[in-house]
Formats: sequence, C-alpha cells, structure tokens
Amino acid sequence: MNISALPERGLARKPFGRTTDGVPVDLYTLTNSNAMQAAITNYGGTVVTLIVPDRQGRPADVVLGYESLDGYLADSPYFGSIIGRYGNRIGKGRFTLDGKEYTLAQNDNDNHLHGGIKGFDKAVWQAKGSLAGKDPTLVLTYLSKDGEEGYQGNLAVTVRYVLTDDNELVIHYEATTDKPTPVNLTNHSYFNLAGQGAGDILGHELMINADRFTPVDEGLIPTGELRSVTGTPMDFRKPTAIGARINRDDEQLCFGGGYDHNWVLNKRGREMSLAARVYEPSSGRMMEVFTTEPGIQLYCGNFLDGSLVGKASKVYEHRYGLCLETQHFPDSPSKPNFPSTIVKPDEKYSTTTMYKFSIK
Ligand code: GLA
Repeated sequence: MNISALPERGLARKPFGRTTDGVPVDLYTLTNSNAMQAAITNYGGTVVTLIVPDRQGRPADVVLGYESLDGYLADSPYFGSIIGRYGNRIGKGRFTLDGKEYTLAQNDNDNHLHGGIKGFDKAVWQAKGSLAGKDPTLVLTYLSKDGEEGYQGNLAVTVRYVLTDDNELVIHYEATTDKPTPVNLTNHSYFNLAGQGAGDILGHELMINADRFTPVDEGLIPTGELRSVTGTPMDFRKPTAIGARINRDDEQLCFGGGYDHNWVLNKRGREMSLAARVYEPSSGRMMEVFTTEPGIQLYCGNFLDGSLVGKASKVYEHRYGLCLETQHFPDSPSKPNFPSTIVKPDEKYSTTTMYKFSIK
C-alpha cells in the first residue's frame, strides 16, 4: 500500500444529513496512527464505518451500515448504534420495582426490545470531538426524559468513544438518574472481519469466555436458568467456527433462528476482562472484546435477509454480520437471580467495553 496515502491521525467532522424533523447531524471520523478509522454519527451514536487493516496491511470496513443518514432513518436493524435505555428484551414490556409495576413500550411482539419504539439508537445526541487527550475521542450526551418509552426518571447519559494507537475502540458508558430505573447500555455493531458485504460470518472462529449461558423461551426471554454450555452448541470456550454447529437440531438454536443468546461471562466482579475473541482466517483480522459487564449477547444477523442494501451497494444477506453486545442479562428487571440493572439516584452507572483489533 502507498504509505503517503495513509490518513493522518486526528479527528474530523462533516455533515451527515438531517432527521425527518430537520435536525442536522454530523459524522465524526477518528483516525489513529495506524490508519485505523472509526466514523461515528451523533444520530444514535452510531458507528458508521470502522476501517481496519488485514494481515497485508490492506484496509477494509468491518461493520455493516449505510452511507448516509437516510439509510438509518429508513430502516436499520440497529446497525452500529448505541442501545438504551435497556439493551435486549424485557418480557411483556413489564417489570416491578419497589412494589410498583411499570409498563414499557412493546416493540417486539409483546416484549420490549432495545429501549422501545424510539430507543437511544434513534436519538440525536449532543456531540463533542476532542484531540486534547492522548487519543481521538468523541463524547456524546443525551438526556432521556422521565417517562420516555415507559421508564421513570430523567436519565443523563454520556458515551465516550476513544480510538487508541493500539487499535482499540473503547466505549465508556455513564449515566445518572433522579429516580430508580433499569439501565443496560450497549453497542449494536454488526461485524464482518472479512469486510462488510463480503459474505456470511459462518467461517469466523469465535471464542466466548463463558461456562454458562442464559437459555430462552420461544419469545427469546431468558427462563432464569444459568445453564452449562458443556455438550451444547453454545460451548465456544475453544475457538470454533460459528457455522460448525449452527444447523444442529437444538431447541435453543431453533428459538433464536441460530445464535441470539446471552452468555454468562467467567469473571469475578466488575473488572475489565476478555469476553470474546473472533478471528477471520482469510483476512487474518482478529477482534477481542473486553468488558466490565457480566454478559455478552451473540447475535448473528439471523434476521438479515437480503432486503437491506448498505454501504458500497452491498446487499446484506442472511448472517452477513455478527454482533457481540456486552450487557447485563436480558429481562434482568424481572429476574431476581440475575445481577441487578437498577440504578438509583445516588449511584452512577459506569461500564466500559473495548473492541481490540489485531492480525494473526
Ligand atoms: C438483538 C436481539 C435480536 C434482534 C437484534 C436486532 O441482538 O437479540 O433478536 O432483535 O438485536 O435485529
């Protein structure tokens, strides 16, 4: 590759379009010293492109998405977005807190999914880019009002994206509230380490650092059990191609239409630890996911069906991307045995997730 063509380390901003209400949104491009780039819009805090070199140094965009805001406004299955106030499902859109029942927006049959009808993925966030620290940083803030999608409490949210020279995209999530509320923030990037639109992800080799997962019912709501992965297609403790067992006659795979489950990460507490590693053999690209969270959702684009056309006119067919959504477990507000997701007014919600890229 022509070295002089490498983009310079820095941070740039350009217009990305206007929402249907006419609100202008921008695209911020963070570039590190190795020409790795993350382009992020303040519409939904969405990671629009992520440019990562392969083992020959050739760059490719490894996330699915759209070239302009219009694509995201028209139809996006949460491509690259920040998910909130609650990542994944809350059964029947209902939970009880301090003896009172709350009813949330139902947007996934009768369940509540990814924050409801207008989740954080569809909000325009206040944005501030900065090069003042060591690394290019984008700080996004959003005030989720009391009552939004059925949640109580004004929730002030800050998400910081940092791109380091060690090829890490680090995401810090913080929130404070004035009334107790469940909070479970994540990012919904669809990765394809061979390059977006290049094919399905069945050949990606995956390791998940988890001895247990949370089995679901047919509506993808956890039953409450923490089940051992031993002897099941959920055992990714040794790196295994995602496609190796995906067609097995297995009740859980049948409910999910493939993998669409939460794993219980092996860890002691809230420390930053390795949750998952993905390797794509043809490009040599590897991605490791570190997090302070107790769980991770693997979703393999089971609902992609070729009807969405993304960047560079690529058609997103079945299983063309995989999501590794770090999180607390789905339906925690109704599962007393799961780690609590309730944030109280005198507490600060604070989690960190890092996607680290390398080659092998
Ligand atoms: C999550 C869910 C999936 C699906 C996708 C978005 O990962 O678990 O069932 O809703 O988001 O399409």
